[in-house]
Amino acid sequence: MEGKMIELEPAVVSKKHIDFLYGCYCSEAVQGNFQPTKTISYERIAESLRLQDEMFKYVFIIVYNGLYVGYAYSYLSRAFNHFEIGVTVMPSMRRIGLGSFAHQVLIAWTLENHKTHRLTAYVSYDNTAERIILERLGFHLEGVMRQAGIIREALHDIAVYGALRSELALMCKT
Ligand SMILES: CC(C)(COP(=O)(O)OP(=O)(O)OC[C@H]1O[C@@H](n2cnc3c(N)ncnc32)[C@H](O)[C@@H]1OP(=O)(O)O)[C@@H](O)C(=O)NCCC(=O)NCCS
Repeated sequence: MEGKMIELEPAVVSKKHIDFLYGCYCSEAVQGNFQPTKTISYERIAESLRLQDEMFKYVFIIVYNGLYVGYAYSYLSRAFNHFEIGVTVMPSMRRIGLGSFAHQVLIAWTLENHKTHRLTAYVSYDNTAERIILERLGFHLEGVMRQAGIIREALHDIAVYGALRSELALMCKT
């Protein structure tokens, strides 16, 4: 896959972006086995996009060859001094490297646009794909929150991954 074909388009309050995100959040097929589908209203998505700068909570649409193939987010933790990141790729577009590359672009954007010295990702312990991606990029498994996740009434453990700015140096210019 040519890296230049993917870009993260900042999500804005437009029908096109909200329709896409609403479809993703509410579809079990897209959210996969490790993320719950969200019971979020269309208006709530619009509101959260409107407040992105104020909340330090940024959403991106992943664009590949002109197509919307997923979404990504990066936001300042409300409790701690780090940014949390996450990436979702549409099922039909998985396993061709898009998830890996979207993580790299998202990490670079976050480190270049915010002074945070650390990134965190919370991942279902059984989410092999996401764990492989994070570990390849330099994240460390820092702990496991037992039974912190629940999907369709099944409890599961959540792995906590962290990376310091210095450990991600190859991905950012600053
Ligand atoms: C996690 C996710 C983003 C990965 O996206 P992707 O585009 O499929 O990832 P990649 O193609 O870059 O794959 C990266 C590596 O993960 C591994 N992998 C991918 N899918 C896998 C699977 N289903 N099972 C085991 N390993 C898998 C492969 O080793 C792959 O590397 P390689 O083929 O180069 O050896 C995608 O599966 C997804 O959107 N899942 C649902 C949302 C989610 O769980 N997000 C993470 C938490 S926020």
